[in-house]
Amino acid sequence: MGCRVVLLGLPGAGKGTQAEQLAAALHVPHVASGDLFREHLDKRTALGCQAQAYIERGDLVPDEVTTGMVAERLARPDCAGGFVLDGFPRTLAQAVALEQLLASAGIALDVALLIRVSEQVALARLAGRWTCRRCGAIYHTLFSPPRQADACDACGGELYQRPDETPEAHHHRLQVYQEQTRPLVDYYRQAGLLTEVDGEQSIDDVQA
Ligand code: AP5
Repeated sequence: MGCRVVLLGLPGAGKGTQAEQLAAALHVPHVASGDLFREHLDKRTALGCQAQAYIERGDLVPDEVTTGMVAERLARPDCAGGFVLDGFPRTLAQAVALEQLLASAGIALDVALLIRVSEQVALARLAGRWTCRRCGAIYHTLFSPPRQADACDACGGELYQRPDETPEAHHHRLQVYQEQTRPLVDYYRQAGLLTEVDGEQSIDDVQA
């Protein structure tokens, strides 16, 4: 029996930070829709070109594009024993599509985990985030700084700031979350799948 987890929370809540450790502890892959999109952007695929303007503005990429991309990833053999899904679903249509996709394989989600932080905390975290271009490790200039300012502790890779790391895009992403993603909290609560964690604790305490 695997463990199928969905992570919910504001941009900057710490989904990516927690998902890596959680996936390792559960021995399942971490599947992040944002990371999948960024891989397509780096490789300049047709899907990446289609998604680029949405991502840079902080808008959601259309459901059919996103759902197709995630469904393809979940169909790979390493997800047969479970997964930690980070950033998907983000709309009710995506949640329904995920439910149908899993039901068609005779499986279902085990838990939807909401990492709860205020908008103020989310903005402070987004403002200082740096990501490793090679291994995807996440740092923060104040809260979890790398030992060397411009290199990843884990692999020595170059640290960079994502293309959606502008104050305008940050504010817009919070607004998009409230309008389009927040309804999922009630959706999963009504399904009896929601668990909440206070995301304003230290990284280790949130993980525990
Ligand atoms: P995506 O990459 O999914 O971004 P997001 O959900 O907005 O979330 P973030 O990655 O910004 O934040 P996070 O919660 O993972 O926080 P993190 O761990 O990095 O999506 C990007 C874009 O892709 C979207 O805007 C959209 O265009 C598109 N997209 C993606 N999925 C889509 C979908 N399903 N449908 C349509 N479009 C989609 O942490 C943030 C910072 O805080 C880090 O610096 C970290 O070090 C620090 N930190 C974390 N936890 C703590 C803590 N406990 N204490 C102190 N600091 C902490």
